[in-house]
Amino acid sequence: MPFFKSFKTCFLIVAFVCLTLNLAAQSFMMNPYGCKDAVLLNGRWNAIIDQYGRGEAKKFFQNRKPQKNTEFVEYSFDGGLRLDVPGDFNSQLPELKYYEGNVWYQRTFMAKKDTSRRQYLYFAGVSYEAAVWLNGKKVGRHEGGFTPFQFDVSDQLVDGENDLVILVNNNRRVDGIPAMQFDWWNYGGILRDVFFVDRPRVHVHDYKVQLKKGFEDVIAGYVQLEGASSPQPVELSVPELNIKQQLTTDAKGRASFEIAAKPQLWEPAAPRMYQVAFTVGSDAVSDEIGFRSIEVKGSDILLNGKPVFLKGINFHEEIPQRMGRAYSDADAAMILSEVKALGCNFIRTAHYPQNEHIVRVAEKMGLMIWEEIPLWQGIEFSNPVILKKAETMLREMIYRDKNRAGIIIWSIANETDPSEYRDKVLTGLVDMTRRLDGTRLVGAAFDNMTYHKDVSTFTLEDRLAEAVDVVGVNKYMGWYMPFPVEPEKIMWDVAVDKPLIMTEFGGEALYGQHGSKDVAHSWSEEYQEEIYRKNYVMFENIPNLRGTSPWVLFDFRSPYRCHQRNQEGWNRKGLVSDKGQRKKAWWVVKNFYEAR
Ligand code: GCU
Repeated sequence: MPFFKSFKTCFLIVAFVCLTLNLAAQSFMMNPYGCKDAVLLNGRWNAIIDQYGRGEAKKFFQNRKPQKNTEFVEYSFDGGLRLDVPGDFNSQLPELKYYEGNVWYQRTFMAKKDTSRRQYLYFAGVSYEAAVWLNGKKVGRHEGGFTPFQFDVSDQLVDGENDLVILVNNNRRVDGIPAMQFDWWNYGGILRDVFFVDRPRVHVHDYKVQLKKGFEDVIAGYVQLEGASSPQPVELSVPELNIKQQLTTDAKGRASFEIAAKPQLWEPAAPRMYQVAFTVGSDAVSDEIGFRSIEVKGSDILLNGKPVFLKGINFHEEIPQRMGRAYSDADAAMILSEVKALGCNFIRTAHYPQNEHIVRVAEKMGLMIWEEIPLWQGIEFSNPVILKKAETMLREMIYRDKNRAGIIIWSIANETDPSEYRDKVLTGLVDMTRRLDGTRLVGAAFDNMTYHKDVSTFTLEDRLAEAVDVVGVNKYMGWYMPFPVEPEKIMWDVAVDKPLIMTEFGGEALYGQHGSKDVAHSWSEEYQEEIYRKNYVMFENIPNLRGTSPWVLFDFRSPYRCHQRNQEGWNRKGLVSDKGQRKKAWWVVKNFYEAR
């Protein structure tokens, strides 16, 4: 059976399965952080480690208590393990450091049953898969560790005390995204904020407010209500721009707008943001939004019409000192203050959509952002389930962050090998990204360049590289590939018709370990320092280089990294150690950025 017929047939079958499985995970509300009716359910939750996954059969979600002397219940949430929410469970107990499996979470919360309103549970991120019950009734499930989801729990809610139970599973899976092997720790748990939201039946569900593409004096977008069955009056206000626009939605609750305005444009040196609010009846949502344009012109990246060089850095969503996932404003401030100290104007939030605190704090600091879905190496592109899941993750990422001026590049993959299936799936995701958001650039990171020894030149033959706006190159010259000749003699002929960002480069060093700058296995700061010095010499020969992003800001936890002395389970490519100590290479990068 030819490729397309077989692919289409399996795709249709599996798409139905995925759709059924994810039925209850509806599109989530925009920005609960800006909604007065959103109450955080963060704190210490009860938990049960369910190593053999028996909890559903044993009905843990009912949180039953024995009713008579002859009864007993072989589980209880009270009086046992307690875990912080948000936060991965791996970093909270020594015995959970390497745990991959099922953990049940439970807590109660008080609510008022009011059928004139709607009540929701909103999860900013649970890794890797979540199933949710309220008062013993299943409200839905979600797969994917890095994007929000929500459930309408109006029907399951009771007046007074409500019992919330969540089953979290972080087992890796062949058809997962990421899949079975990846170079970061597979943290599991309720990683991000949880909200209970009690709103008027008609309320603001979604909105987009950005510059109209190609204009600096028109603000365009839409508002989408939930619960409307007839046209509704909605007010859009941007006080600092003297905007107080009365909109009227259609019968489905949607209204689009284009408003003449001359906002001060968001840029790294002056990240101007504006208070924006939507009001419908007693419901209101407020946000802080920046306005800017981003485009590609030949091999240049233009921010607000002017060429920009991206002085970047990569980091995982991890606080190394805590050996755990970052999840709060304070965590974001710690990571991003180190980014600013390095002299950056750009970050690559490797390798997945990171929590909203990081994206919003970065934007306020004037940092441009490359955000990506975790299609990271080893993906079975021939499996139609993968396409479905990748589309869902891409849609959720773009939906969540479409109002973030800081985000300039959506990236759809990292280091994937060309094949018939991979090319079809990924070029399809490029098209989908453009359909979902034509105002930002589409990128991908590549490591399949070819080095031509006879002419000391790198090239890249890849259909996906032809499809994207910006080509990211991951190349570890001096680490995974020794310099074949002096760096100044190495030429680059890669995607020269478009911008190239060196999205990953660098090498490992154990902080405080000193040795020869010429010996890789010294794992010394001097060797790492020399790698950066040589790469910056080579970068002079990349005609379309428009940004660099060293791999990586901090040492981070990874099961890949087993050298008993130099790694101990840590990837040591950090410019800063896992204890927050800057290595010598840090200053090489700082000087390179200061000189630009
Ligand atoms: C790859 C990959 C990173 C990984 C890095 C490394 O390029 O994108 O996720 O951590 O190389 O090998 O350290």
